[in-house]
Amino acid sequence: MLLFTGACGYIGSSTARLFLEQTDYKIWIVDNLSTGFEIHAKTLKHLYPDRVFFDLLDLSDMDKLESLLKTKQAQGHSVQGVLHFAAKLLVEESTRMPLDYYANNTLNTLQLARLCVKHQIKHFVFSSTAAVYGQTKTLIDENTPLNPINPYGASKMMSERILLDTAKVAPFACALLRYFNVAGATHFNDYNSPFALGHRAKNATHLIKVACECATHKRPSMAIFGNDYSTPDGTCVRDYIHIDDLALAHLEAFKTLQAENVSQIYNVGYGRGYSVAEVVAKVKEISGVDFKVQMQGRRPGDPASLIANNTKILSHTAFKPQYASLETIIKSAYVWEQYLAVQPC
Ligand code: UFG
Repeated sequence: MLLFTGACGYIGSSTARLFLEQTDYKIWIVDNLSTGFEIHAKTLKHLYPDRVFFDLLDLSDMDKLESLLKTKQAQGHSVQGVLHFAAKLLVEESTRMPLDYYANNTLNTLQLARLCVKHQIKHFVFSSTAAVYGQTKTLIDENTPLNPINPYGASKMMSERILLDTAKVAPFACALLRYFNVAGATHFNDYNSPFALGHRAKNATHLIKVACECATHKRPSMAIFGNDYSTPDGTCVRDYIHIDDLALAHLEAFKTLQAENVSQIYNVGYGRGYSVAEVVAKVKEISGVDFKVQMQGRRPGDPASLIANNTKILSHTAFKPQYASLETIIKSAYVWEQYLAVQPC
């Protein structure tokens, strides 16, 4: 059995589906549903009724998690690894609520690492972020010095350090996945069914989702936050990766971790960037909807450009991206928003 924290969210649920399809593991989801959606656990259970378990739990309640773990063990389920998705993940929000980010992200990761060491759970895959790097000029490789410019990135940087230090002194190894900007919806969805996985949010803030919400008339307009950055068109540049490829990166990183028992850090992106203005234009082109866009000032916490050097994950694991095209990402995100419009979460 594998413990997936936060797998009622977008990335965790899509990754859980891939693990269920490609491995024989049972998956135990714990989620506090603060930003996740129970429909994702239900969907996974619908697809794999005997292999998915769900507990509503806040990770700050480590005693309860430990007691559930003991119950699972007593029932004959040994937990062989953790994939830790549960986190707060909005850059701008983190600048307003830093303590929530350090508590929810850093402190909970520390406690979870302690639980793993105590119960001999040796393999840990961690959702880290490109936000640990801060401002950079060129392609970022994993040795680029960490210099986060917002509490979100800092909370993840500290969590990484906790896990790496734990691995030095305990039978414990971790794969730290520094995600670049994930978007799109899984190709495995059946859009005739109420059971589908994707990016649900009560108040979306991510660029591709926001633009697709405009294209499906869920919102009347959107803003571009800043056009005075030192980038080719003045708007921020990001490396967008398709959710199915990000899920696959977890599977391949986990397999490598199991085979080698050595902690590794991987950038997970495609190695090319698109500006906010380019993304918005592409959403308009694909949807054929010319929604209203206003230019606004910079959003606090945003670095100008984040583009992955992804050589390490490509060479050190069997990961081979399959959907590395902005068009593919946006088309799937747009279909997903059309689905949500008639099948609200
Ligand atoms: N943006 C807009 N208008 C919007 C929404 C976003 O102009 O309505 C801009 C942002 O200012 C930024 C870019 O689009 O320049 C991307 O913003 P997102 O909110 O989509 O994503 P972030 O880059 O801020 O952060 C995301 C995740 C993090 C992750 C990071 C990695 O939220 O968890 O990508 O690069 F760490």
